[in-house]
Amino acid sequence: MAYETIIVEVEDEVALIRLNRPEALNALNATLLDELSAAMTEADRNDKIRCIVLTGSEKAFAAGADIKEMSQKSFVEVYSQDLFGAQIEAIGRVRKPIIAAVSGYALGGGCELAMVCDFIICAENAKFGQPEINLGVVAGIGGTQRLTRFVGKSKAMDMNLTGRFMDAAEAERSGLVSRVVPTAKLIPEALTAARKIAEKSQIATKTVKEAVNRAYETTLREGLLFERRSFHALFATEDQKEGMAAFLEKREAQFRDR
Ligand code: CAA
Repeated sequence: MAYETIIVEVEDEVALIRLNRPEALNALNATLLDELSAAMTEADRNDKIRCIVLTGSEKAFAAGADIKEMSQKSFVEVYSQDLFGAQIEAIGRVRKPIIAAVSGYALGGGCELAMVCDFIICAENAKFGQPEINLGVVAGIGGTQRLTRFVGKSKAMDMNLTGRFMDAAEAERSGLVSRVVPTAKLIPEALTAARKIAEKSQIATKTVKEAVNRAYETTLREGLLFERRSFHALFATEDQKEGMAAFLEKREAQFRDR
């Protein structure tokens, strides 16, 4: 499918989705968010795709929601449209793993979009921030909620109240990103991680996603029970038999998503 603001490539069962509005540092306008949520939903349905990598350009993952597009909107408009709600929730509903590969600016909605993904690999030049406070507003798609769960209250308050940017080293130190890599190696590294995930049983990778997300959405007791029951349930799959047999026979497992 042809898109105006994103580029989608599929290779080795991995979809690489690039945000592509270089003239606005990949600012998230309505078209981009509609296209991105449609592409993500489509990738989730496509049997030939087992993992998704979301990236931007070297200069910017995304510099936030499009300020030009929203500056004149009224409360009634943004409330009635539930601005950004539908698209970001659609991305959050994707069941296949999504890796955010962040280079350059990930600000405002850009940082929030990266946090909706399952984990973030960033380049050494990455800069994260929630500068909405400088525009007289607050974050709208997770900057006060997901960021707090990633980095804790003190840093989340600091980022949201001062609007300062966090560099890659600080983002790794504070748990926002899983790894920092040299800028030129960002895409190869993210694709290697995605291909590794694509080799696993998809029933297990989707279950990992559901279980880890439970850690953010429920109590420890409920989360542990969900995890244990998920572990038990996977014994009903052929992939569990294959995975354990392959280990014992000292060979690579051939998972079939059954
Ligand atoms: N919306 C619309 N256009 C944007 C944009 C945005 N968020 N960010 C950058 N652009 C545009 C600029 O207007 C500029 O366009 P023109 O050449 O037509 O003037 C172009 O991208 C290049 O930007 P700069 O000239 O500003 O580039 P720079 O290298 O000097 O600065 C930057 C880079 C620090 C990222 C700066 O562009 C910036 O501060 N951008 C805004 C960041 C921001 O405030 N993000 C939060 C948005 S609100 C939000 O996201 C709400 C939410 O939670 C959902």
